[in-house]
Amino acid sequence: MKGIILAGGLGKRLEPLTRITNKHLLPVYSKPMIFYPIQTLVDAGIKDILIVTGGNHAGEFLRLLGNGKEFGLKHINYTYQKGEGGIAEALGLAEHFVDKDKMVVILGDNIIEKSIRQYVDDFAKQPKGAKILLKEVEDPERFGVPELKGDKIIKIEEKPKKPKSRYAVTGIYMYDARAFDIIKTLKPSGRGELEITDVNNDYISHNEMTFAVLDGCWTDCGTHESLLRANNLIAGSG
Ligand code: DAU
Repeated sequence: MKGIILAGGLGKRLEPLTRITNKHLLPVYSKPMIFYPIQTLVDAGIKDILIVTGGNHAGEFLRLLGNGKEFGLKHINYTYQKGEGGIAEALGLAEHFVDKDKMVVILGDNIIEKSIRQYVDDFAKQPKGAKILLKEVEDPERFGVPELKGDKIIKIEEKPKKPKSRYAVTGIYMYDARAFDIIKTLKPSGRGELEITDVNNDYISHNEMTFAVLDGCWTDCGTHESLLRANNLIAGSG
């Protein structure tokens, strides 16, 4: 199982904090943001990790993380996304690294409280397809939102004005290598990005998507408000 952390993008919603650095290098309580998704993957037993970054500060990731010794890693892989073409575009850059393997993808600004090991183990046993993790939230219109029927997701809508459930699709995605074939068929959305929601909807339409509701707290750090929530979450958990 490969692990991929997506840490590209320009973090425009966090201006002026992101004017002189990459969003994922900003502090979340006592550590730079990127430390948390790395630890999440390592705690799930994943040692083969690729970080996709971009923008003007990509070199700082190497200076900060090196080969990942403080996470018990021997090596970290890096690749570079030019521009901000979307989460699915960033993931497409991991094809050479994943090859035919399965992968756990985590957005570099997603912070969680508990381990995802059980979900990753379940996905390892899943013969093919994808698995996503949902979390009930107050403001689903900020996220990808699943429409549920019985115990199935029938569709995900990206930032819907009228959400069809109270759940957000968290930025932790598990895929087989077919994800890369799907990404090659995608067209940019209204916001000019290749959307990870379109990748997920393809798996759903092929009846190859499973899901679980994430245990423990979860937040992104995409806005000043959610960055503060992440700081409080980490401060509170000691
Ligand atoms: O946090 C979960 C949400 O993340 C999901 O519910 C949404 O379905 C998904 O689209 C995404 O929503 P955001 O609009 O909040 O994503 P954002 O543009 O803030 O990007 C999140 C991370 O993805 C960012 O911290 C780094 C990575 N990224 C993003 C873009 C646009 C890249 O690596 N490259 C990119 O081009």
